[in-house]
Amino acid sequence: MAKIKFGDVVENIVTRKEFPLKKALSVLKGKTVAVLGYGVQGPGQALNMLDNGVKVIVGQRKSTKAGSSWKRAIRDGWVEGKTLFSLEEAAAKGDVVMMLVSDGSVGQVWKQVAKHVTPGKYLYFSHGFAYVYNKLTGVKPPKGVGVIMVAPKGSGTSVRRNFLSGAGINSSYAFVPNGMKAKDVEDMTKAIGIAVGSGYLFPTTFEREVTSDLVGERGILMGALAGVMEAQFNTLRANGHSPSEAFNETCEELTQSLIRLVDEKGMDWMYTNCSQTAQHGALKWRPIFRKAVEPVFKRLYASVVSMKEAKEVIRDTGCPDYKEKMAAKLADLTNAEMWRAGAAVRQLRPAEKARADAETAAGVQGRKGGK
Ligand SMILES: NC(=O)c1ccc[n+]([C@@H]2O[C@H](COP(=O)([O-])OP(=O)(O)OC[C@H]3O[C@@H](n4cnc5c(N)ncnc54)[C@H](OP(=O)(O)O)[C@@H]3O)[C@@H](O)[C@H]2O)c1
Repeated sequence: MAKIKFGDVVENIVTRKEFPLKKALSVLKGKTVAVLGYGVQGPGQALNMLDNGVKVIVGQRKSTKAGSSWKRAIRDGWVEGKTLFSLEEAAAKGDVVMMLVSDGSVGQVWKQVAKHVTPGKYLYFSHGFAYVYNKLTGVKPPKGVGVIMVAPKGSGTSVRRNFLSGAGINSSYAFVPNGMKAKDVEDMTKAIGIAVGSGYLFPTTFEREVTSDLVGERGILMGALAGVMEAQFNTLRANGHSPSEAFNETCEELTQSLIRLVDEKGMDWMYTNCSQTAQHGALKWRPIFRKAVEPVFKRLYASVVSMKEAKEVIRDTGCPDYKEKMAAKLADLTNAEMWRAGAAVRQLRPAEKARADAETAAGVQGRKGGK
């Protein structure tokens, strides 16, 4: 393991240098990896492992509906009866059973596949949800099944895109030997972590992962991001600024310029590349915003720890019509004036339009070099 210093704290991490793909493939030699679920993470992880030379099969419930995950799997080149099976069949064939169905449905799927997850096999997750909230999900692997987690810190779409570009996506990892030899379970966890295309792997526990992940996505990564942006956009609009001006000052300048500078060399680097006027004002308002939102983050953290968030996820996304329900909620976001303004702004970017059209035609997560 490599040691890396984060300020005063030294952490152990795993990179492709200490655990190269060759080593990962030797751990996975002779093993069949069954990816159950072909939603967002399923395609990214399954295709990356396949391209890396792992024996992968996909388990997905069948549906001939347009836009279904089953049809997408076929479109991506998985072949029914050869590399694409029902959830149960795939679980029976897999030595490593990767649970990449939605967190809301994982309890229902576990009831179908549990009998095939027998001692000597590995049970894999990309989130601590199913295992930590087992009082809600019922996921309790029998003794002798190694429980492993690799949780990519990015969308499944980026897991695939960054793999194809060579960048990778960082992932956290954890494992519970559960009666198996600890070293074997640790090696399998790292092997899968490398095979799915992680940039570097950092250790966590199932509990810490699920808590930080639920807070992060409800907070700055998604919930707070959209909420704070909308608050500023609406304030500008209410004061007579045009949609174009309000959108450019709220989102476009961030995504096209400033956040890229943060990515490159940090927040202070972004600040120093802005005007004195901008830096002066931002430094004054930074603590005011921090103070205003800290109580919301405390409330959010408590809501996650109390399992309220998990119960709501299972209630609202574990139902048969979960896609329709989510689509209706998302329409609210898409139709908000701010995001309609964003769509119009993006249409004015010729290169972006050509890229989006090409991606739609090819399918974002298609196999390497085509399909
Ligand atoms: N999304 C991400 O980028 C991301 C990032 C990091 C970690 N994770 C974790 O990765 C795991 C998978 O997440 P995801 O976002 O890829 O999944 P998702 O899109 O939420 O789930 C879709 C998959 O679950 C299946 N599914 C849903 N309800 C089902 C049911 N009742 N019975 C059988 N199958 C059902 C879907 O099949 P149908 O299409 O047939 O409904 C589809 O295969 C989760 O633990 C998640 O927290 C996700």
